[in-house]
Amino acid sequence: MKVGAVQFFPVFGAVARNIAKAISMVKGKEADLWVLPEHFATGYQFKNRDEVLALAEPADGPTVRTMAGKAAEFGCYFIGGFPEREGGLVFNSAFVVGPEGVLGVYRKTHLFDREKELYAPGSRGFMTFDVAGVQVGVMICFDWYFPESARSLSLAGAQVIAHPSNLVLPHCPEAMKFRALENRVFTVTANRVGTESRLPDEELTYIGQSVIYSPRGELLARGKEADEDVLLVEIDASAALDKSVTSRNDVHGDRRPAFYKLK
Ligand code: ACM
Repeated sequence: MKVGAVQFFPVFGAVARNIAKAISMVKGKEADLWVLPEHFATGYQFKNRDEVLALAEPADGPTVRTMAGKAAEFGCYFIGGFPEREGGLVFNSAFVVGPEGVLGVYRKTHLFDREKELYAPGSRGFMTFDVAGVQVGVMICFDWYFPESARSLSLAGAQVIAHPSNLVLPHCPEAMKFRALENRVFTVTANRVGTESRLPDEELTYIGQSVIYSPRGELLARGKEADEDVLLVEIDASAALDKSVTSRNDVHGDRRPAFYKLK
């Protein structure tokens, strides 16, 4: 399986332009799965909830339909972030689309900072999708800060974790090594670059450095810090089915949940 991450600079509010830009970056490159950043088509720094509502789309809206059309045209899968509207609620979501259409939508579980004023927290939990015969789980950006996210996906059978992101804090590109290692999964973090300063008291600089790790914690690809980039690697997804550390240890089988505090 070939997996890739598209790292680019979405222009706030320029939805058609941003979709065209992401598509142009992957065109002519062969991958089975492309991971796009969080909110890749809209930009991230909304001034208020009204702005989010104006750009949010339902799960079968134009952005998801366009990406499903491109997935059918290219014979690949796309996972990317978008503000999802359902009734009066908005979620920070990620779609999974492929040649067969829309596979589903994940809603971000752990909202970051001002997102708590803009979105409803996801309440569907962590889920995996069948992407060309490989179980792919999805988490969004700040979900990485909670090791339970990747662990839940791994326990649900994810072989690959797709991680659309708009990272502004440090450490994630390094931390994903351990999310991969402790769960014996591949991870594909697709981050954006650029700065947004649409609010007088908040300038957001996105840290680039999209990363792909193997289940053994090997760094397979790392994007530039401040420039657009495309990462593309071939992986053997079956390697993520082997959870052994030694002949006597297994990252799933050796767990002692009776001793883990949930609260
Ligand atoms: C983030 O969750 N967008 C930092």
